[in-house]
This record gives sequence, structure tokens and C-alpha cells, in this order.
Amino acid sequence: MRLANKFALVTGGASGLGAAAVERFIAEGCAVCICDIQDEAGEKFAATFADKAFYRHCNVTVEDHVSDAVDAAVERFGQLDIVFHSAGIVGAVGPIATTPGDEWRFSIDVLLNGTFYALKHAARVMAPQGSGSIISMASTAGLMGGLGPHAYAAAKHAVVGLTKNVGVELASKGVRVNAIAAASMATPMVASVLTGDPTDLAGARATLAAVSPLHGRAGLPEDVANAALYLASDESGYTTGHTLTVDAGFTVGATFEGPAFAEYAPIVREAGKSGLDD
Ligand SMILES: NC(=O)c1ccc[n+]([C@@H]2O[C@H](COP(=O)([O-])OP(=O)(O)OC[C@H]3O[C@@H](n4cnc5c(N)ncnc54)[C@H](O)[C@@H]3O)[C@@H](O)[C@H]2O)c1
Repeated sequence: MRLANKFALVTGGASGLGAAAVERFIAEGCAVCICDIQDEAGEKFAATFADKAFYRHCNVTVEDHVSDAVDAAVERFGQLDIVFHSAGIVGAVGPIATTPGDEWRFSIDVLLNGTFYALKHAARVMAPQGSGSIISMASTAGLMGGLGPHAYAAAKHAVVGLTKNVGVELASKGVRVNAIAAASMATPMVASVLTGDPTDLAGARATLAAVSPLHGRAGLPEDVANAALYLASDESGYTTGHTLTVDAGFTVGATFEGPAFAEYAPIVREAGKSGLDD
């Protein structure tokens, strides 16, 4: 059991990547406080794990909700070893010149301010404890331009930056702070963008598999859950401030078509010469 005797809080835990991490963490011996705003789905999901999980309503844009959820987890478990902050939305979509200010602010509130509250209150209990692992969901859209809407890209770049900065601050306290930059994975969020139907996970998987640099292999919630498990466990005990990609190599240039210059040809030299013998 890779998380034996550990206790976690997962935001956005009722769906998608958060839910996959909840399942993975519990399978490895952890108990989890599942936080979300989808109360019915969250309660139902938590009930499937009996005393290994409980549900807590927590809107990550409300600092008191995050603070209270962290306190509730500590009260129930006696300690908090892992916070996996996965709550998120796609947010405002469209050209910068016409993005409505209130949609921008709503997006930043969920995606960035929510991350601030999660890091802040995780640090509040973990630093005095002298141990802990905090993991936030960033995105490939937080590493490269053009992969997501503007507010989403801005917030996810900020998550990567905040992960480095808070990682630096908390290193001496024994608290590790990392993030995961996933490409599109087959979750309800991505299914709704790709197929218009958040429940069409099979459709999302097929669409993603058809364009994957790892041919035929779609990104799955389990891939992120496994990355989160590594960062949550003591196996990553020497890693902090890091953003781990789960993206089939996309951010290092991998494409479905493969690389340029992949086939052998005689060496290309100065002034249009080729080959070594002339
Ligand atoms: N799915 C992907 O391909 C992908 C890729 C990169 C990054 N991400 C990031 O991973 C995270 C999870 O995405 P997902 O695909 O699992 O989405 P999802 O929609 O399946 O799950 C997100 C969960 O967050 C919850 N949530 C939304 N707003 C909230 C709020 N204000 N307070 C509390 N909970 C709230 C939702 O109710 C939902 O249960 C997000 O931060 C997303 O940006 C996803």
C-alpha cells in the first residue's frame, strides 16, 4: 500500500480527474475528504467507500469553505498528509477583445484564487506538522500558448508559477508542492468540449486516441491519478516545485505525424552541399 496511514483532501473530487485520484488513493490505503460543489454526486461517490471517505461541500472560490474543509479533514483524520486540488472549469472562451470582464473574473476566481486558498490552508496545517504533499492541477495550457482559452491559460501558467514559489517557501518545513500538467484527458470537462455531451466519455476517448502522439492511446483520468499517486506518496520525497507533464510528449513537440527529419538522408552541409565525400 503506497499511501498506508495517509489522509487526503481532494477538491473537485466528485468528477473526472479528482474522482479518479480519490479511487486510486483509497485503493492504496488512504482515507479521503472529497470536496466539491456537486453535492449529490459527491455524497453518493463518498458512500461507495464506507469509512474510507466522507463528502464535504466546498466551493473553492470561498476561502472560508476551503479553510473549513481543511479543518474538517484534520478533525476527522487527526492529520492531513495530501491535498490534491483538482477543482476547475474551462471558463471564459473567445477572443481577448470581446471576453466579458465578469466571465474573466469568474474564471480566475475558480482556477487561480481557488488554488491560492487550497495552497494557503494546506500549508497552514502541514507546515506545523512538518510534512505533507500538495498537488495542484495545472495543464499543458499552463506551459504553452494556444492550448486553452485566455483566462484558463493565464490561470494555469500562474498555477505553475505558484507551485514553484510555494515549493521554495515550504521546502524547509518538509512540505512538498507540485503540479500536474495534463493534456486533454477523457473526462466530463473534455467530453463536453469535444462532443457537446459531458457524459460521452467513450466519444472523448475515441477522439483523443485518433490524434494522440502515442498512437491509439487516449489520455485517461487514471493516467493523472497515477501521477498524483506518485506525487502524493513518499516515492516522490525528493521532488518539489515541479510540474509533471502527463501529455504523451506533446509539450516537448511530439505530434501524431511524428518529427521532421525522421528518415535518414545524407548529411546536409554548408551552401547546399550534402553528404561527406564531396
Ligand atoms: N480533463 C483534462 O483534460 C484536463 C487537462 C488539464 C488540466 N485539467 C484540470 O484538471 C482539473 C479537473 O478537471 P476535470 O477534467 O476532472 O473536470 P471535471 O469537470 O470532470 O471535474 C471538475 C470538478 O470540479 C468541480 N468544481 C468546479 N468548480 C468548483 C468550485 N468552484 N468549487 C469546488 N469544486 C468545483 C466540479 O463540480 C467537478 O466535480 C481542472 O482544474 C482542469 O482544469 C483537466
